[in-house]
Amino acid sequence: MADPTLFSEDIDGWNTVMFLYHSALKEVGTKLEILNDEFRHVHHYNPIEYIKSRVKEPESIVKKLKRHGYETSTENMVNFVNDVAGIRIVCSFTSDIYKLAEMIGRQSDLTVVSVKDYIRHPKESGYKSYHMLVTVPIFMTDRVVDTKVEIQIRTIAMDFWASLEHKIYYKFEGNAPEYISRDLRECAGIVSMLDDKMLQLNNAVADAKEA
Ligand code: GTP
Ligand code: MG
Repeated sequence: MADPTLFSEDIDGWNTVMFLYHSALKEVGTKLEILNDEFRHVHHYNPIEYIKSRVKEPESIVKKLKRHGYETSTENMVNFVNDVAGIRIVCSFTSDIYKLAEMIGRQSDLTVVSVKDYIRHPKESGYKSYHMLVTVPIFMTDRVVDTKVEIQIRTIAMDFWASLEHKIYYKFEGNAPEYISRDLRECAGIVSMLDDKMLQLNNAVADAKEA
């Protein structure tokens, strides 16, 4: 489990909350695997290429709380940091993203708190992904706690772009030279074009098989 020393005022609370986040990742991860298996069974292909999950590092949690003007406490983390538990789903095609989002939305034991569609509305940087904030009930011996998980769904190409952009962002501490930001935005355009082309090609193959 993560280093709790930054939240030393409340080790018990911290440990319980971290237990909840780890459990929430397991629950949502299993659900996604089941959806993927069932989808493969019915449609004979996997909408999910791979899944990555992580619990946010205490240092990053503290940074985020500070950035938003909150004091470092377990309570503030639970209330104001929505991506302590995060799952990233990487798909081949943009259409898979919306299929998965719909399937996730239909899970009766998940509550969708909010959705951000950065595919239809990309960020200024060029960033594209589909984000869902959900809660999943975690059953403990004496109570049930709805626990937040941030789900990011993107294509392989979007993921490739986002990891390079992330590296560059850190390298320049958010102030990359203009020519680099411009090239990144250009790459984001190429990524969208590639995703569109690959989807068209895939659809053409599917149509040809049926004919
Ligand atoms: P933070 O960006 O995490 O402070 O939270 P937010 O409330 O602004 O949510 P948002 O949906 O903007 O971002 C959530 C997560 O998406 C981030 O933690 C990143 O993992 C990812 N993300 C958002 N914007 C970008 C971006 O411009 N580039 C990259 N590489 N990742 C991004
Ligand atoms: Mg942000």
